[in-house]
Amino acid sequence: MRLATTLEELRAWRREAPPTLGFVPTMGALHEGHLDLARFARSQNAAVVASVFVNPLQFGEGEDLARYPRDLAGDREKLAATGVDLLFAPSTEEIYPQGFSTAIDVGAIGDDFEGALRPGHFRGVATVVGKLLHVVAPQRLYVGQKDAQQSAVLRKLVRDLAYDCSVTIVPTVRETDGLAMSSRNRYLDERERRAAPSLHRMLRRFVELLKAGEPFEIARTAAAALLEAPGELDYLACVDAESFTPLAALRANCFVIAAARFGRTRLLDNLWFPQ
Ligand code: PAF
Repeated sequence: MRLATTLEELRAWRREAPPTLGFVPTMGALHEGHLDLARFARSQNAAVVASVFVNPLQFGEGEDLARYPRDLAGDREKLAATGVDLLFAPSTEEIYPQGFSTAIDVGAIGDDFEGALRPGHFRGVATVVGKLLHVVAPQRLYVGQKDAQQSAVLRKLVRDLAYDCSVTIVPTVRETDGLAMSSRNRYLDERERRAAPSLHRMLRRFVELLKAGEPFEIARTAAAALLEAPGELDYLACVDAESFTPLAALRANCFVIAAARFGRTRLLDNLWFPQ
């Protein structure tokens, strides 16, 4: 696996790259969920690029940018083992040189839920992924379903700005107790880690109750009661998978989404309904 740390090195590699190229953007601290994206990309493309870049633009004030886990040596080994061809691991200055001021704003799709709780977050995500897509120029972009709103934002980015690239959303990888894998799980202390799988149980219960015909608000309140202390619910909702507008019932192509705080750590999860 080649390592590129500058845009110029990446461009030079890209000029010689095979015609079908898959791209897996990450912020590193890789877990099985990320590696699944890389394996999926490997199985569908002649070559695969992965990036590791902790993007300061998507962290708000008081968020965990400084303590976000970093392990480039470990990430490098893991990505090489999945058959990734090129790892792009730039410095902050390489992506945002002095004077950088352009931003990509995807509009209302990023305003609610994570967007409301983390103002500017999706603008930061869209800006960095927009820049990376521009330089990597892949045919296929791979993102994880766990960050459902981010996936919807990136699909919109690709559509609106006419990137010549498809977006593949890869299902969430879970621990054996149902907890969705996330780089942030490592922040959880013992008590928080024990309670964290209740986020997934809550989502499943919400869906069961809705399917059984329970009124929406009653189902939501009953399911929310399953979130175990010290978990504190930020939201439990049902949204259209494309636009992320809230729905008051399950219907085709929707996500049931939830976010909760366990101590200083926010965790997200969702279930998808194709029909
Ligand atoms: O999901 C992530 O790891 C990040 O938000 C992404 C897509 C790599 C952009 O920084």
